[in-house]
Amino acid sequence: MKSKALITHLSDGEVHSGESLAAKLGVSRTAVWKQVRKAMEEGVEIQTIRGKGYQLLSSVDLLDADSILSAIAPEYRGDIALQVLDEVGSTNAEVGRRMSSGEASLPITIADCQTAGRGRRGRVWTSPRGENLYLSMGITLQGGFSRLDGLSLVLGVAVANALERLGAQGLGLKWPNDIFVPGGKLGGILVELQGELQEGVVQVIAGFGINVHAQTLGGVDQPWSSLARSYPDVRWRRNDLAGNLITAVQDALDLFSRDGFGAFLEPWQARDIFKGQSVEAKGGGVVGIAAGIDERGNYLVRTGDGTVPVRAGEISLRVVS
Ligand code: BTN
Repeated sequence: MKSKALITHLSDGEVHSGESLAAKLGVSRTAVWKQVRKAMEEGVEIQTIRGKGYQLLSSVDLLDADSILSAIAPEYRGDIALQVLDEVGSTNAEVGRRMSSGEASLPITIADCQTAGRGRRGRVWTSPRGENLYLSMGITLQGGFSRLDGLSLVLGVAVANALERLGAQGLGLKWPNDIFVPGGKLGGILVELQGELQEGVVQVIAGFGINVHAQTLGGVDQPWSSLARSYPDVRWRRNDLAGNLITAVQDALDLFSRDGFGAFLEPWQARDIFKGQSVEAKGGGVVGIAAGIDERGNYLVRTGDGTVPVRAGEISLRVVS
């Protein structure tokens, strides 16, 4: 956003003259006016008060790398290579690029908007500017590919932990890792394998999309909600959210490495939104009662012929009436 500095100055909600803004930004008054117009075109509500100046009417929640870093637990800060972008195609693609260019430490990319946000199963992830959180992390796990089985569920638990710590109550998880509130989907996680397959090391990109302030989301074809809609009494700040999410993911990955997936079975099951409902999987090939997950992260469906484990991946699970 070209007008980020301008909006930072206006974010106190006071009236600022064109002259004082021009001085603070080191530009002409005409340039200030152009930035105001641009910001308004991008959806920021700014009032022009004749003879006095400009005032921000809507509250803005700007991303800021220093604020994100200070919201991350100190023990993790040193390992992280944080990149905060104004706009990107997909933060997952950007982290993939950073990993393949050999960037050291733990690459994390956050963007204010995505122009080609990716969802699971080839879907588009609607990613409007300034509204939500789009965050990707490059994760390296020691161990074989079996480590991947539980990973996406582990990440779902980590997101729920972070959101609950900040004041979200009653969150649910929809297998394998959608974040749900009673109003619908609040967020999703896209886990993509990165690089050449190497024995003993697994590299993945984990992308988190959380609806934060959105009140409308064009093109989304299922019930959805945002933190601001579902928890209007909490003051949601994307920087805090990002810092807490990164910390929760690092905590969860430490526990996963130390104790394996078993440590996540109970926390995942406690938030299972399917449990006890009639469900179908594999395009209707498996129909039965949802019975939670097993120690590998498969979803169990109790059918007339016994319990069938359903693997995460191509197939989805849905409630049938
Ligand atoms: C889903 O379909 O539920 C997963 C959505 C994942 C969206 C996030 S937003 C940040 C990261 N970058 C992407 O392109 N996708 C993920």
